[in-house]
Amino acid sequence: MSIEAANWAYAEDFVEEDRVILEARDVADQLGCVPVLPGVARAIEVLARTMRATSAVEIGTGAGISLTYLLRGMAPTGVVTTIDVEPEHHKAARRTVAAAGFAPERARMITGRALDVLPRLTDGGYDIVLVDARKSEYPAYLEHALRLLRSGGLLLIDNALWHGRVPDPAQRDKDTTAVRETLKAVREDERLTAVSLLASGDGLLTAIKD
Ligand SMILES: C[S@@+](CC[C@H](N)C(=O)[O-])C[C@H]1O[C@@H](n2cnc3c(N)ncnc32)[C@H](O)[C@@H]1O
Repeated sequence: MSIEAANWAYAEDFVEEDRVILEARDVADQLGCVPVLPGVARAIEVLARTMRATSAVEIGTGAGISLTYLLRGMAPTGVVTTIDVEPEHHKAARRTVAAAGFAPERARMITGRALDVLPRLTDGGYDIVLVDARKSEYPAYLEHALRLLRSGGLLLIDNALWHGRVPDPAQRDKDTTAVRETLKAVREDERLTAVSLLASGDGLLTAIKD
């Protein structure tokens, strides 16, 4: 194993996950939606806590793993507006959030296609936007995120390395190209600072909106 691969594996196993999250990961597996990996999950919690975030948008709820980590990091009054196209995923996420001990009103679930729902959310109204839904739509999600984040708000983009395909120029499929384009757009956008690409999990891109 290379040093990089050994470091990655060690870091992903470094902090144990609790029963609620492990069960939610099993459910996610059954539903066929891939959650954030443990390193990214914990980074999301740390960042949300550091910001004392009270409002977040999540694009791609899945079975509620990243949602639960967001809620764990945010202020006790914090609310996550989370979007998913699959009602079954929202049902599972509701169970995860309840098992984690959060009141249902802390997770405002909107079922629908992200690009239909996002235009209905308030400009400048959110501390955090977490992007983790359809890869080919990442460039459009970025545009919405820039509108939705308040000044000083945090942008988080999961799967920023897309299973090692983003760094490999030979990979030119639609999803990889869209993620790669999004990374470039974030790096070049003058409204975004503190841009960082964490090689944790499947890659987490972070940036702060000025
Ligand atoms: C990678 S999973 C999200 C995992 C979740 N963030 C977690 O860590 O637990 C992606 C989710 O996006 C949803 N999705 C896919 N395309 C979508 C779209 N166009 N609009 C809204 N949700 C979508 C899928 O149903 C799936 O639940």
